[in-house]
Amino acid sequence: MSVTAVIGGQWGDEGKGKIVDLLCKDVDIVARYQGGANAGHTIQINDNTFVLHQVPSGILHHGVTCVLGSGMVIDPSALAEELDTLAAHNIDTDGRIQISYGAHIVTPIHKAMDRATGHIIGTTGRGIGPAYSDKARRIGIRAVDMLDIGQLGQYVLKRLKLGIQQGEFNQEQLKDLHGEVETFLYAAHRVAPMLADTIAILHQALADDKNILIEGAQGVLLDVDLGTYPYVTSSHPSVGGISTGLGLPLQKIDRLVGVFKAYTTRVGSGPFPTELDDEIGKILQNKGAEVGATTGRPRRCGWFDAVAARYACQVNGFTEVILTKLDVLDKLDTIKVCTAYEMGSKSVPGFSAAAHSLEQVTPIYEELPGWKTDTTGLKSVKQLPTEARRYIRRLEELMATPISQVSIGAERSQTLAL
Ligand code: IMP
Repeated sequence: MSVTAVIGGQWGDEGKGKIVDLLCKDVDIVARYQGGANAGHTIQINDNTFVLHQVPSGILHHGVTCVLGSGMVIDPSALAEELDTLAAHNIDTDGRIQISYGAHIVTPIHKAMDRATGHIIGTTGRGIGPAYSDKARRIGIRAVDMLDIGQLGQYVLKRLKLGIQQGEFNQEQLKDLHGEVETFLYAAHRVAPMLADTIAILHQALADDKNILIEGAQGVLLDVDLGTYPYVTSSHPSVGGISTGLGLPLQKIDRLVGVFKAYTTRVGSGPFPTELDDEIGKILQNKGAEVGATTGRPRRCGWFDAVAARYACQVNGFTEVILTKLDVLDKLDTIKVCTAYEMGSKSVPGFSAAAHSLEQVTPIYEELPGWKTDTTGLKSVKQLPTEARRYIRRLEELMATPISQVSIGAERSQTLAL
C-alpha cells in the first residue's frame, strides 16, 4: 500500500498532469482535494488533444477510481462536458467517479459573480472564488443538495435573489443566466448518482492496502494562506489541503512530490520577481507553449526562483522534487537562477519575509552556463550534458530537496530518473 501526493510547487501549470499520469501505474484511486474547473490538464490520445478540468487524468488508466473530495468546488455543467468529451474518446467513466457529498457546488450564479469581479486579480472566471466565499459565509450549496433537483433549483433562485439584493452582479452579467441554470440543473441531475461517502472509500482503501495517488491543482504560491495573497486562488493547494479536503490524515502519505518547472510561469495578476519582459521571456513562452489550458491566456515567464521554491519545499515538506520542461532551456547560452532577494539594499532572509511585499524585491541571480544541446531524445540521465546536470544539482542544493526525475518533453518516455 502506498499513498503518494503530487503538488505544484510554483504558481500552477508545472506539468502535474504528466507526472500524475506517470505515477498512475498500479494505482487504485486518484483523488483531488481542492480547486475545481479552474485547473486544466491537456491530454493527448493518439492525435487527439483535449483538456480535463475536474476529472483527474487517472481516468485514462483502466480500473482507476477518481475521487473528487469535499475540499473541491465542483461545477456540474463543466463536469458533464468532461464526461461527454471522455465518452467521445471511448473512455468509460461508469462508476469510476466518486464525488464527496460535502464538496461545494459552483452554480451559474457563482460564475456570473466571478465575471463581475474576477478581473481585479485575473481569475480564471470559473466561479471558484465566489463558491468558496459562499462556503465560508455558510450559505454554500453542496454536492449533497444535488440529490433533490427541485430543492436545488430553489437554492439557486434564493442565491440569485440575495446576489441582486446585495449588488453582487449587474443585469449584463446575468443575461445568459436562464439557459445556464437549465443546463446546470440538467447536469446536476446527471452527476448526482456519482455522490458517495468519499472519506469512507479512502479509509477502506487504506485498510485494504490499496495505492492512492493524490493530485493537487494550482500550486503552493496560489494557496490562499501560504501564497502571494491576494493574488491567489481560494483553496489550499499546499499539503494541508489534503487533510481537510479529503479527510485523509497526513501521516498516511508516504511520498510527497513537489512538481516544479525548470523556470517559472504565472497566469493572472500579481507580483513575479523573476519575470522576463524580454526576448528570453518570449523564447520560454514559445518553446514552452505557455498558454493557459483553461483560459487560453499567455502565461508570464521568468527564471527559476529558488527563494520561492525553497519556501515551497519547506512549508510542504516535499520528500522529492520532479523537475519538468528542462528541454525548454536547451537553446539558451546562459541560464539564471534567483538565489536571493534584496529589498532596498538589504538582503531578505527568505520568501516568507518578503511574501507580503513581493513587488518590492530585487531578485539576485546566479548565472550558469547553458548546455546548447537538444535533450528531448535522451534516454538516460547519464546522457544529459554536464551543464544540465550542474543546473539540476544547483536547484537541488538551493531547494534542499532531492530531485528524483526530470521531464524533457510531453511524452511519458521523455522522463529521466536521477
Ligand atoms: P481562480 O482560481 O480562478 O479564482 O483564480 C485566482 C488566481 O489563480 C488567478 O491568478 C488565476 O490565474 C490563478 N489560477 C487558478 N487556477 C490556475 C491554474 O490551474 N494554473 C495557474 N494559475 C491558476
